[in-house]
Amino acid sequence: MIDLTINGKKITAEEGSTILQAALNNGIKIPNLCYDKRLKPYGSCRMCIVEVEGQRRLFAACSSPAESGMVVITDTPKLRKFRQTVLELLLVHHPLDCPVCDKAGECDLQDLAYEYGKPEGRFRRHRKEVKPDVRSPLIELSSNRCILCGKCVRICEEHQGRGALGMIGRGFPTVIQPAFGDILDCDFCGQCIDVCPTGAILSKPFKFKGRVWFLEEKDTTCPFCGCGCTLTLGIKEGEILRSRGKTDVGVSKGNLCGRGRFGFDYIYSENRLKTPLMRIGDELVPVPWDEALNFIAKNINAVLN
Ligand code: SF4
Ligand code: SF4
Ligand code: SF4
Ligand code: FES
Repeated sequence: MIDLTINGKKITAEEGSTILQAALNNGIKIPNLCYDKRLKPYGSCRMCIVEVEGQRRLFAACSSPAESGMVVITDTPKLRKFRQTVLELLLVHHPLDCPVCDKAGECDLQDLAYEYGKPEGRFRRHRKEVKPDVRSPLIELSSNRCILCGKCVRICEEHQGRGALGMIGRGFPTVIQPAFGDILDCDFCGQCIDVCPTGAILSKPFKFKGRVWFLEEKDTTCPFCGCGCTLTLGIKEGEILRSRGKTDVGVSKGNLCGRGRFGFDYIYSENRLKTPLMRIGDELVPVPWDEALNFIAKNINAVLN
């Protein structure tokens, strides 16, 4: 373990931690958009920039190792100005989609824009005008909202081991897509939806079903197989509208497969048995549970006796 100081608070951190990990593990918030603790440091968004005492340059907390005796400051007027400029640049070509974007209400970019205030708007740039890719059955890719943090590409490659997405193109026109512009045909684990800090990757079955602040969330166990992963269900007026995984929640720590993520709609299938069926003559007739259980008990007793 190493000792360091962040914002005047003395903390300990595991050797090999980054400044961001040391801070987050000690309850100190540093804004970030491209960090996920499951992924290798990437350092693309620069929101996590911090000051280190005795150093003239700024440090990206997510990709700078925490060192023993380090004195770190995470919030100063200079850092706020720096982060405001980063957001200003990210928002230069970001569409004004919040009123119609499913991510609104749980969007990291939106939250940070609120936290850091209205950007000055000094720069002009054409907006990206890429049509959303809706060809895949379950996932929609809206590159116009993408901030190129690379989390989707990295979670798919490093964590899911699928490598289904890539950054296609260079510079401003870069889009997130499968290779050769193919239709996304992958494991449909949906990890890319969860990690995306904006509404650039969306669940199609959930699209326009409800604003997230109206959802009641309940953690439950996936019924599909013996792994028993933890699903966080989003429920509105008694109807399950989505299933997602939350990092650190439950046995699967946010990881789901396609069935846990998208397969819950079977509970609303018209073919689903909701009451016992008893054969009466040639017909299978729905009966109450009491009647079915009494019938079974009576017949088991008859066999035993
Ligand atoms: S759903 Fe899973 S497998 Fe498909 S692109 Fe996203 S992370 Fe990769
Ligand atoms: S689609 Fe989302 S996760 Fe992927 S690079 Fe763009 S903003 Fe990041
Ligand atoms: S999420 Fe997938 S692996 Fe996990 S319990 Fe459900 S079906 Fe099984
Ligand atoms: S979180 Fe550090 S650069 Fe993005």
